[in-house]
Amino acid sequence: MKICCIGAGYVGGPTMAVIALKAPDIQVTVVDMNATRIAAWNSDTLPVYEPGLDEVVRQARGRNLFFSTDVRGAIAAADIIFVSVNTPTKTYGVGSGRAADLRYIESVARTIAEVSTTPKIIVEKSTIPVKTAETIQQILAANTNGATFQVLSNPEFLAEGTAVVDLFNPDRVLIGGERTPAGDAAVKTLADVYARWVPRERIITTNLWSSELSKLVANAFLAQRISSINAISALCEATGADVDEVANAIGKDSRIGPKFLKASVGFGGSCFQKDILNLVYLCESFGLPAVAAYWNGVVEMNDYQKRRFSARIVRSLFNTVADKRIAVLGFAFKKDTNDTRESAAIHVVRDLLAEQANVVVYDPKVAAADIQADVLGKGVANPRLNVAASAYEAALNAHAIAIVTEWDEFKTLDYAKIFAGMHKPAFLFDGRNIVDLAHLRALGFRAHGIGR
Ligand code: UDX
Ligand code: UDX
Repeated sequence: MKICCIGAGYVGGPTMAVIALKAPDIQVTVVDMNATRIAAWNSDTLPVYEPGLDEVVRQARGRNLFFSTDVRGAIAAADIIFVSVNTPTKTYGVGSGRAADLRYIESVARTIAEVSTTPKIIVEKSTIPVKTAETIQQILAANTNGATFQVLSNPEFLAEGTAVVDLFNPDRVLIGGERTPAGDAAVKTLADVYARWVPRERIITTNLWSSELSKLVANAFLAQRISSINAISALCEATGADVDEVANAIGKDSRIGPKFLKASVGFGGSCFQKDILNLVYLCESFGLPAVAAYWNGVVEMNDYQKRRFSARIVRSLFNTVADKRIAVLGFAFKKDTNDTRESAAIHVVRDLLAEQANVVVYDPKVAAADIQADVLGKGVANPRLNVAASAYEAALNAHAIAIVTEWDEFKTLDYAKIFAGMHKPAFLFDGRNIVDLAHLRALGFRAHGIGR
């Protein structure tokens, strides 16, 4: 059997590497139109940082795992084609700012139809609006050169930073297909691939639309928990309650559960906001404005939380940060990844620059050029924005520190040394609630957390 995956990104790359590792008899080829990215996958410095990924790739690459730019050749040879191209939020035309941009999905479908001469199973890995499978089917049917196609939905639930662990041991694998004999056969073929390492009872099969919708709903529910606790964090700051204590107390209720209750400067990442906006757009399109408004509140609360964090910094520093040096620790949207898409840090840094602060960012994995480009735009410079090579360098001569990503190394910094090198009063704003505020206050910091 041969598998091809179109899109060598944060999802396609790790997912295919693990399939290749666990199924040595299947030849897996990951293709991408971005030649630089493919070259990186074939090098010692992978384009995606994920704990454990280097080892998986080292074992399978060259054996049954290949990275290539020959998109058409890989499609022609494959029995199963995963589509894992990006589906950003539209920035133009109808649905701008909310609907998904499906141009890449459509162009991939057209290429598959053009190139294929044997039966293929097409697997949607990208997160897409409900009923995209139907679009793909129509494009394939209208352009086929005689090949037959079965379209499946198989959304990926891995979280970045823990991709390898999540892929090795998923809570569930979801496969949606057409409820016809040919559809059932295709679902079985894909289920058999996962069954090599995932227990059968964790492989769930549904109809196509349930599968597509479940991905959006899973992300919406996860994000909703974060917005819920973040809403309460604002109330905690006003009342003197401690949001971590509240989260712990409510999380002990087995009906609520302890996970995804960490108050923060706001969720980021390529999925949560995009998928909720997709859900909102879908509800509006189907004439359900009350449902749309309900879910849109999750995104609004997240925007509020990001703004609230930078506003608190400015307010605490006597209502002016102009020309003050602020160290921003962490820029990735969460720890253990070099991904910055929708990171709260982008908004925090922009807000501080708008207040004419001098911002110095340090992140252990994000390249300086990416930080500059995310905040200012590609090729734009601003003398007020700089990148440091360590937390200590960033904090030297700073008036305040803002922890924006929960990297483990920020928990164990020598804060006494950092305090000694800062302007006084020295402020610290922990946007992730990872440091011991009492300890920092004992050192002399004016230390604030989220909701505490
Ligand atoms: C994935 C999913 O695809 C997306 O729907 C989900 O919401 C987030 O995770 P991700 O792997 O993170 O996306 O995206 P990205 O890292 O941008 O990778 C997509 C890759 O597809 C890029 O390398 C891009 O070059 C490639 N691509 C895109 C193609 O090869 N062909 C195309 O036509 C379009
Ligand atoms: C998410 C989903 O978890 C995953 O199942 C889906 O496939 C893709 O989207 P990801 O975005 O990679 O994964 O990371 P996740 O761990 O969910 O974190 C998302 C954001 O929420 C991060 O910015 C994180 O810092 C934040 N977060 C998470 C909180 O602020 N508080 C929490 O309690 C949990």
